[in-house]
Amino acid sequence: MLRILFGLLAFSCLSFANKKVLKVPLYATEKVSGSDLFFARNLTKGSETLHLKLQTHTNLAYYGNISMGTPKQHFSVIFDTGSSNTWLPSINCPKSNLACQNHRRYNSSRSSTYTPDGRNFTLRYGSGRVVGYLSKDTLHFSGADLPDVIFGESLFLQHFAFNTVRFDGLVGLGLGVLAWSNTTPFLELLCAKKLIEKCLFSVYLRRHPPDIPGGEILFGGFDKSKFEGKLHYVPISLWNSWNLEITKTTVGSKQIGGKINAILDTGTSLILMPQESYDNLLKVLSTRVENGYNVLTCEDKTLPNVNILIGGKVFPLTANDYLMELTLGRKKLCVLAVAPINRGFWVLGDVFLGRYYTVYDAAAKRIGLAKAVRRGK
Ligand SMILES: *[C@@H]1O[C@H](CO)[C@@H](O)[C@H](O)[C@H]1NC(C)=O
Ligand SMILES: *[C@@H]1O[C@H](CO)[C@@H](O)[C@H](O)[C@H]1NC(C)=O
Ligand SMILES: *[C@@H]1O[C@H](CO)[C@@H](O)[C@H](O)[C@H]1NC(C)=O
Ligand SMILES: *[C@@H]1O[C@H](CO)[C@@H](O)[C@H](O)[C@H]1NC(C)=O
Repeated sequence: MLRILFGLLAFSCLSFANKKVLKVPLYATEKVSGSDLFFARNLTKGSETLHLKLQTHTNLAYYGNISMGTPKQHFSVIFDTGSSNTWLPSINCPKSNLACQNHRRYNSSRSSTYTPDGRNFTLRYGSGRVVGYLSKDTLHFSGADLPDVIFGESLFLQHFAFNTVRFDGLVGLGLGVLAWSNTTPFLELLCAKKLIEKCLFSVYLRRHPPDIPGGEILFGGFDKSKFEGKLHYVPISLWNSWNLEITKTTVGSKQIGGKINAILDTGTSLILMPQESYDNLLKVLSTRVENGYNVLTCEDKTLPNVNILIGGKVFPLTANDYLMELTLGRKKLCVLAVAPINRGFWVLGDVFLGRYYTVYDAAAKRIGLAKAVRRGK
């Protein structure tokens, strides 16, 4: 058994190496109870932020490992398809900033490949700010070395948002339009340096038992063993982020939303939709309010699917996908893994991406979707 496994692993590494495909395993942990929904951000460049309270025990966050500098300094990061900048906590952050002190910090004096940049930056996420200055160094992941990555060394991390999170920093997998000016974001740099065969990556997230929560990101290709059937490709609707067009959304025989843009975002846990669609959804599902939550009975087997029509194909979400279990006192309840936003687009976060394998094809400006396989490996 062990030998077969080892053989399989060796084989897959070899074929990956030849085809210039880089694999990053992801691991998942439950988010700290009571923390705000994390990466709901200002993609429309407004200054408005989102505040979504969420207390649940099945709200997962997915991380991967990278290293920065020479010799390597190790970090755990979120690979975020919804933003384009990369940052790590800095060794120079003040003692008073506990959110920074409580994480691994990059020390540029320890790296022979470090080059200063000197510009300052501020990033505003839905749940808090990150402030610091830009630096340049070599980023290592999955056995590859990516030189000249301009990234943020963070001096200030908003306590509320970052103090208790398990990851140290973030790698933005978004497109150049959202990146700091005169910087090349991670994916573009990866493609420009020809470290991968094709300028695309794929995301596989596991979230349902008996699967062990986790997943992987594959740069340069996709893994056919991780999805069923064929990839369904749709064009990117606006070349500024990883977004596509939803034609309409129905629940049972009721339409809850029409034609609208949707962002695919690994950095957001839930599915976010405009208030009107959200209200329609609550009505169709006949949720009731308990302790301020819109809840449903977990055992209700008659709950309908939420059917999202994308490029002529329906992508259903079952109650198992769109509900999360919550314990209130001794009572077990189910809350919607869906939240409203006052924006004119949807955010398809991990709830959707756990059900559907996604391919982010920058070369062909398209997104591929297929039903992800479920199995506990
Ligand atoms: C990430 O790195 C940590 C050590 O820093 C290690 O314990 C963990 O197994 C690694 N995870 C993955 C998925 O590579
Ligand atoms: C949010 O908007 C502000 C103001 O336009 C901008 O400076 C900031 O970079 C944006 N944040 C993100 C994460 O895009
Ligand atoms: C950063 O690295 C330098 C060089 O190794 C070392 O002298 C310094 O103490 C380090 N800084 C901190 C705060 O650990
Ligand atoms: C960056 O911020 C630091 C401290 O906040 C400030 O002293 C410095 O002048 C700023 N540098 C630039 C280039 O704006």
